[in-house]
Amino acid sequence: MALEAWLIDESDDEDQRLPHHRNPKEFVSLGKLEDLGILYWHLDPKNYENDEELKKIRESRGYNYMDLLELCPGKVENYEEKLKNFYREHIHADEEIRYCLEGSGYFDVRDKEDHWIRIWIKEGDMIVLPAGIYHRFTLDTSNYVKLMRLFVGEPVWTAFNRPQEEHPARQGYIKNLFENSGVALEAH
Ligand code: LAC
Ligand code: NI
Repeated sequence: MALEAWLIDESDDEDQRLPHHRNPKEFVSLGKLEDLGILYWHLDPKNYENDEELKKIRESRGYNYMDLLELCPGKVENYEEKLKNFYREHIHADEEIRYCLEGSGYFDVRDKEDHWIRIWIKEGDMIVLPAGIYHRFTLDTSNYVKLMRLFVGEPVWTAFNRPQEEHPARQGYIKNLFENSGVALEAH
């Protein structure tokens, strides 16, 4: 099944766990996510320990670090605070690589016009957000996700909250967007 992503209604600031579709709904294609530098695979989450496809991806991209992160109320210390931090718009100096093994959640990323695209991650979905892309994460109303986190070398989870226009990762990301698409970003 294909990944579902859509532009969100930003005037609607109710519960972050709701889908926040626009009216009418505006879905976003995988191609558009690729233009933003996002990678996507659908893998077999039941077989993550012996999955040859996952192994190949990890080898070819150098993802030697791996851990599992389970998020749900009651299981995680400072749950509400953690969720709030994940939902604060930020970038990282490195890729954010997440493979959904169970449950679901939303990764929101900014498109070229600086609108939020909501990406619905479910069991078997693996995405890579490029270094320097503005993004945030929230659980959906199922309130449960089990994620595999991958990284090249020793993991660094530091989040740099927006604005970060001078950050080298941000500048590198913007440069790539220009080079890959030739489309100018709107000034903001
Ligand atoms: C994050 C969590 C969801 O880093 O993995 O945003
Ligand atoms: Ni992040």
